[in-house]
Amino acid sequence: MRLVPQRLRSRQEWQFAGVLPRADAPLTALWWTLLVARGLLPALFAIAMGMLVGAVHAERELTAPLALVGAVFVLLQVLPPFHQAVGANLGFRAAAWLYDQLAIACVRPPGMAHLEDPELTQDITMARDFDLGISGPPLSISMDFIASGLVELLAGLACAAVLAAYAWWAPLVLAGGWLATHWLLRESGVWKDRNTDEVREAQRHADYAYRLAVDAPSAKELRLFGLAGWTVERFRRHRRQLHDLRWHATKLRERPVLASLAVVTFANAAVFGAMALDLLAGTLAVDRMVAFATAAFGVSAIAFGGLSWALDGAAAPAAAVLRLGQPMARKGALSVGRESAKLLPKREIRFQDVRFAYPAAPDDAVLDGFDLVIPAGSSLAIVGQNGAGKTTLAKLLCRLYEPQSGTILVDGVDLRALSLDGWRERVTAVFQDFVRFQLPLRENVAPAGAPDEVVQAALAEAGADDLASLGTVLDRGYDDGTDLSGGQWQRVALARALAAVRGPGAGREGVGVVLLDEPTAQLDVRGEAEIFDRILQATRHVTTILISHRFSTVRHADRICVLENGRVAELGSHDELMALGGRYRTMFDLQAQRFEPAAPERNATA
Ligand SMILES: Nc1ncnc2c1ncn2[C@@H]1O[C@H](COP(=O)(O)OP(=O)(O)OP(=O)(O)O)[C@@H](O)[C@H]1O
Ligand SMILES: [Mg+2]
Repeated sequence: MRLVPQRLRSRQEWQFAGVLPRADAPLTALWWTLLVARGLLPALFAIAMGMLVGAVHAERELTAPLALVGAVFVLLQVLPPFHQAVGANLGFRAAAWLYDQLAIACVRPPGMAHLEDPELTQDITMARDFDLGISGPPLSISMDFIASGLVELLAGLACAAVLAAYAWWAPLVLAGGWLATHWLLRESGVWKDRNTDEVREAQRHADYAYRLAVDAPSAKELRLFGLAGWTVERFRRHRRQLHDLRWHATKLRERPVLASLAVVTFANAAVFGAMALDLLAGTLAVDRMVAFATAAFGVSAIAFGGLSWALDGAAAPAAAVLRLGQPMARKGALSVGRESAKLLPKREIRFQDVRFAYPAAPDDAVLDGFDLVIPAGSSLAIVGQNGAGKTTLAKLLCRLYEPQSGTILVDGVDLRALSLDGWRERVTAVFQDFVRFQLPLRENVAPAGAPDEVVQAALAEAGADDLASLGTVLDRGYDDGTDLSGGQWQRVALARALAAVRGPGAGREGVGVVLLDEPTAQLDVRGEAEIFDRILQATRHVTTILISHRFSTVRHADRICVLENGRVAELGSHDELMALGGRYRTMFDLQAQRFEPAAPERNATA
């Protein structure tokens, strides 16, 4: 590899070529062998024709030259479909390999900042969708275009080499003439990069509009807000833009075409003219003339060969996948230690002067100078306005991101010193935007597996025991699948956390920290009160962090923290904070007022 200059190695075509053997080495070797064989056949055919004509002319034995011509001819017919099948297979494998790499690069980092980094978004989008046939043919089909381009180029050059036996200048003139068409037509875009930012942008918008139109989740708003026409129009506009861009990149322009014609005509006239003169002068035998003329025709393949647009379409995402590996690993990295997290926290969780900003807005700190102590085994409610950073706090505690500065200590040990898997085994969470797995109810409650009794008990605690059988897939798109309402889903998510608290059974302990981010926001009033009591009961022995805008539930927590401007503004029990008469009291009173019966005199005057 060292012998290959850096400039070539950094080219995406080169990187794409490197992907093929990694996807399947023997198949790649076969693909290249067939490619070279196909590339050499036209030159061989020219030579064989020359030999046949020579034999006829000299009235020699015809069997051998005839057999050669026949064999070459048969191979010319047989190899392309065979090569195509090999290429399609290799394309499938290469696409699968690239998707594997991408999936690994996405999933492997312990953090998740790499998935939200704006610098990587474009590459991720391109790499994610490349084989769906949206922005170009899938790789299994592109391989054939790629092969054809290279075969033609090679065939043209091999024919030119044969022509060198006639005169040293002939291949230069003829191959040069045909090659010049590439250069002359480069602005005509047959060889132009179609994978520009502008194209991708139009592709993304068109794709989004299309998804809005055909996907079920957006169907409600589309109808209610009368957006059907708008979506279709948007889709059409961006598809048309895409079409225009592609057309612009593809169309032939008049002047370069005329120039190409002139160059090619001149080169052919020179070579064929010279051959004709030599033939007439008797200095060129008929058999050699036939071989050279056939080869001279073959050189024209150069014009149609080369690095095709399909190669560009395949190489760009391949390069993007390879390019993504390192920065994703770096940006999703977390510093992790090996200290055991077993039975933690026993004493407390302590946030110490923590500063955190999301990768998309590194200067916009969500938490800044954040200090908080959460005694182990107690319950803490976090309240604060939308965007105050409550969910962010939960994500930091799960170690999904790294704080920029400050520390989170568990029983005095820096969270970063703990084994990551060990700590995550100690934590469970119902996130505000919890995932709704398209899996059976059983796996939705215990994704990592748990005995059915544990799952059933957790579902009962969350008031979800009669939703569906444990084996029912929670999505109507599956056989015997079912859809749940928003509140029913929330109960399933709660059951997930409660099952984690119980532990996977067989003597293995449950989690020590439960994070509940708006866990009852979608529950009906009676359900909320009832379930909340049960949650408190079930999580009595663990550290519970409850994020909620509902003060009727918040007030039951041992302590309440009001989050404001990235810091703790107030901290204390419900009674303490009410007595303090600050933010908490204002918010509590405001919410309580709405549920008080209207004053009679106001009714009287109305
Ligand atoms: N993935 C993200 N990338 C960039 N910024 C984010 C991301 N998630 C949240 N933010 C920003 O961080 C801030 C805090 O968000 P967070 O979700 O923690 O708020 P919250 O207190 O949970 O609000 P809510 O009550 O609405 O749930 C907001 O300004 C939000 O815009
Ligand atoms: Mg939130």
